[in-house]
Amino acid sequence: MSTYHIQTYGCQMNYSDTERMESYLQALGYDKAPSFEEADLIMFNTCSIRQSAEDRVYGHMRTIEQMRRQHKKITVVITGCMVRKSSSRYSSERDKLFNTTRELDIALRTEELPKLAALARELDPESKIPEIKEESLEDYFKISPTHSSHQSKAQAFVAISNGCDKFCTYCIVPYSRGREKSRDIQEILKECTQLVENGCKEITLIGQTVNSYGLSQYDKEEKTFEFLGEKEPFIYLLEEIDKLHTKGLVRLSFTSSHPKDMSDQLIEAMANLKTIMPYLHLPVQAGDNRTLKRMNRTYTVEHYRKIIEKLRKAIPGISISTDIIVGFCGETDEEFENTYKFFDEMDFEHGYISQYSERTGTTAARFIKDDISEAVKQERWNKLNDNLLRQKSKKAHERFLGKTVQVLVESQEGKKCLGRSEHFKTVQFQSGRKLLGEIVPVKITKAMEWILEGELV
Ligand code: 5AD
Ligand code: SF4
Repeated sequence: MSTYHIQTYGCQMNYSDTERMESYLQALGYDKAPSFEEADLIMFNTCSIRQSAEDRVYGHMRTIEQMRRQHKKITVVITGCMVRKSSSRYSSERDKLFNTTRELDIALRTEELPKLAALARELDPESKIPEIKEESLEDYFKISPTHSSHQSKAQAFVAISNGCDKFCTYCIVPYSRGREKSRDIQEILKECTQLVENGCKEITLIGQTVNSYGLSQYDKEEKTFEFLGEKEPFIYLLEEIDKLHTKGLVRLSFTSSHPKDMSDQLIEAMANLKTIMPYLHLPVQAGDNRTLKRMNRTYTVEHYRKIIEKLRKAIPGISISTDIIVGFCGETDEEFENTYKFFDEMDFEHGYISQYSERTGTTAARFIKDDISEAVKQERWNKLNDNLLRQKSKKAHERFLGKTVQVLVESQEGKKCLGRSEHFKTVQFQSGRKLLGEIVPVKITKAMEWILEGELV
C-alpha cells in the first residue's frame, strides 16, 4: 500500500483544501503516512501571500533531495497558491516551478485536483493508477473533505467559495486561485447537516471574501442566486445553517470578510441568529485613506469605522480582529502613524500584522515601487506589534477576568485542556475528565497577552 503526506501552509482555506486532497488520495488507494520521511507521495499545499511562506517549501526540497540520494522513491507534488499551471515533469507546457526546483514531479492548481490521477499517469505510465470517479468532476468542491483538520469531530471548516474578484493591488490570490466562484448552496447545506448529525458543534465557513458569497461576477453571470430576489445569498446561507441549532449546532463563524460586503442587513442577521459567535475577523489593512486607495481596498477609514460602530451596537461585546500590512509601497511616516492611531482607536482585540512582500504579477509589483526599506518595515511592524497589539490583546483578555466563558475543547494532553471561548479567545485549564470536543464552562482566573487561564466550573 502506498502512503501520502500533505504538508500544509497558509490560511484555513488551504487546510480545508487539504481535507479534499486527502479524500482524493485515499480514493486512489493511498494511506496516510505516519511521517513525512515515510511517505511515498509528498504533497506541499502552498501559500504565496508572502515570500517567507514560499521559502519554507524550498527548504523542504533540500530534505527531499537527501531522501532521494538515499534511494528513496518519492513522488513530489506542489499544489496550492504557488502553482499557475497544472503539469507533470513530462508535460509539454510546464509550470514555472519546474525551473526553480529539480525535485518537483507534479504541479497542481488547487481547483484542478480532479486532474491529479491523469498527471500521475503521465509521470509514470507503468504505475497502474486506478480510474476513480473523482477524476470526472469538473468542480473540486464536489470531492467530499475528510474534515480532519481538527482533533475532534465537534469542529469543522466548510468552504463556501473559492478565488477572489477584489484585486487588492498587493495580493496574489486573484491570480493564484482565480476568479471568485461560490459553491452550490444545497451542497453546502447538505455538508453542514451531515456534520451536525455526526456531532459537529462549531462550523467555520471559509472563503477568501466569505461575505461576498453569491455576489461574484461569475455567480451573477450564472444567475445561480436569482431565486433569492433582493436577499443577500450569504445571509440566506447563514439563516439556513443557523436552523441546525435544533440538531446540535452551537457555534457558527466565518472568515475572512471584506468590509465592502459587510452590509447593514448582514450585521442585523449576525445579531439575530442563535449560533453566530460574537466574533469577527475584518481585515482593514491600513488606517489611512491614501494607503487604502493605493491598495485598491475600495473603502475609506470613515466607512470602516461606521461598520465597527454598527457591529458593536448590534452585538455588544463583539470581539473584532484585523489584518494590517505595514510598509506598503509609498507608505509615509504620516500614513503609518494614521494606521497606528486607527488600530488604537478601533480597539482591535487581535490582529495579524505583516510586512509588505512584493508578489510578482500583482498590480503593485507592476506599477508601484516597493520603496520602503526592510529596516523601516521591521521598525513599523515592531511598533505596531510590540506597543499596541500586545497591549490591546491583554486589555481585551482582562475583561473576562472572574467571568465564566464557554470553552470548546480543541486539544487535551494529560490534564491540560486548550480551547476557544465564544469570543474566540484561547483558554487553557486543567481537567482529569476526557473533554475533547465538549463545550464546558470555565471561570477565568488569569489574563495574559495571548491566552486566558481558568478553572472548570
Ligand atoms: N504582503 C504582505 N502581506 C500580505 N497579505 C496579503 N498579501 C500580502 C503581501 N503581498 C496579508 C493581508 C491579508 C492576509 C491574509 O495577508 O493582510 O489580509
Ligand atoms: Fe487578496 Fe484582497 Fe482578495 Fe483578500 S480581498 S484575497 S487581500 S485580493
